[in-house]
Amino acid sequence: QANERESMYLVSEFANKYFQKILHKTDPGKAIGLSYFKERGFTLETINKFELGYCLDEWDAFTKEALAEGYKLEFLEKTGLSIVKGEKQFDRFKGRVMFPIHSMSGRVLGFGGRILSNDKKAAKYLNSPESEIYHKSKVLYGINYAKQAIAKEDNCFLVEGYTDVIQFHQTGIENVVSSSGTALTSEQIRLINRLTKNITVLFDGDAAGLRASLRGIDLILEQGMNVRICTFPEGEDPDSFARKNSEVELRDFLEENSKDFIRFKASLLMEEAKNDPVKKAGLIREIVQSISKIPDNIQQEVYLQECSRIMDISEEVLYSSLAQLTKKSD
Ligand code: CTP
Ligand code: MN
Ligand code: MN
Ligand code: MN
Ligand code: MN
Repeated sequence: QANERESMYLVSEFANKYFQKILHKTDPGKAIGLSYFKERGFTLETINKFELGYCLDEWDAFTKEALAEGYKLEFLEKTGLSIVKGEKQFDRFKGRVMFPIHSMSGRVLGFGGRILSNDKKAAKYLNSPESEIYHKSKVLYGINYAKQAIAKEDNCFLVEGYTDVIQFHQTGIENVVSSSGTALTSEQIRLINRLTKNITVLFDGDAAGLRASLRGIDLILEQGMNVRICTFPEGEDPDSFARKNSEVELRDFLEENSKDFIRFKASLLMEEAKNDPVKKAGLIREIVQSISKIPDNIQQEVYLQECSRIMDISEEVLYSSLAQLTKKSD
């Protein structure tokens, strides 16, 4: 299968070059794609660095050119770049601006394509399907650009989307990656864990899914990493916020608003439970669940003490609740 994967890498790299050529060298590319990126505040340097592109709004312009260049339909289909229906072939990313997704070492694995109209019927982002070369649970967008900075800063910012990564880079913060809208996986965390033990998770200020996403963060604790959380003001995401602020302002904001994960979760849950004792009991179990994932005993103890204070509940109760949980999972 090594040959098959190699052919898929080659056609993906061809597509990447092609979409960039369309963006920079054709009239529709310039008028639609390039001006879209410029309106979002991306400089030409940023557009080039992230190899952003455009797929023409025609049924099969890309597929035709790839076939004419000698790439096989089999691999166009396997990478999802082309969709085959009977005798006909279509470009998956028709009319979208393109974000290539690279591996740690910089090979093109797949693409995200953003729609330009505000057509609510179509998905805002369309991504390459799972394939021999693109396993979305193992990929972090931006890791190829961020790896050195993550090691140097000894911290990794984890954001939700493609444009958050790009805008942070442009502002001057390069230790940033995105899980691209999917739930965080242990494999993705392991990629970061090789470079640093510290993650700061940045959430869009739309509250949607915040509680659900917090569950995924236990996976980071399991790997013995330190997690901080930073939320953005209502209606802002890291991209829109970075665009409005200088590097210094952005760094100050991140510094001031990043909270230790366990403390953040305890406060959030307490706010939610208010004076409802039944709810509070459930939420205490939930926070103890998170603490039970931390491999280091001393760190666990420090957190139990803090939670006892924040949630106004005795340390003994928290200890016995933790002991029960640990026994069950043995
Ligand atoms: N996403 C996706 N499919 C969608 C919506 C979102 O794959 N239909 C992924 C994309 O990777 C996106 C991320 O989830 O970047 C975060 O979603 P969202 O915050 O809605 O998008 P933004 O990245 O903020 O995109 P934009 O600013 O272009 O609207
Ligand atoms: Mn590249
Ligand atoms: Mn969002
Ligand atoms: Mn956004
Ligand atoms: Mn967003």
